[in-house]
Amino acid sequence: MTDRVVVAGAVYDRGRLLAARRSAPPELAGRWELPGGKVEPGESGEQALVRELREELGVETEPLERIPGEWPLPRGYVLRVWTARLVSGVPAPLQDHDELRWLGPGESGTVDWLEQDLSAVAEAVRRLPGG
Ligand code: CDP
Repeated sequence: MTDRVVVAGAVYDRGRLLAARRSAPPELAGRWELPGGKVEPGESGEQALVRELREELGVETEPLERIPGEWPLPRGYVLRVWTARLVSGVPAPLQDHDELRWLGPGESGTVDWLEQDLSAVAEAVRRLPGG
């Protein structure tokens, strides 16, 4: 068990998966990710995910299932990913991102994902309702 955890959400709405393009830091800017962020002390992964998606995108979401596995990140962090349902709001790039895109079936390969997100994206696409 590590306490250096980054959580990210494979957010679905109407059969599409949300991708977010990072605006910072410079080495990640322009690359696409599943949005999320660091778990804070005392939070569960699911709580952190809901908070991060609210802060970064202005939406309310409901975590559905953890995608099995975790992926190493710099500085001893690991990435954990959940599928999540959009409950309310329209995602907007409020922090950390400069573009958002809903990817329909067959479109997940059209953006330049961060390498560490690729396995989770592939698994999320397999779990896409109706996908
Ligand atoms: O917003 P916060 O500082 O909590 O975290 P973040 O900057 O969004 O994410 C921390 C780090 O996790 C980033 O610098 C990325 O290296 C990594 N990350 C990732 O690789 N894939 C994601 N889907 C989300 C974050």
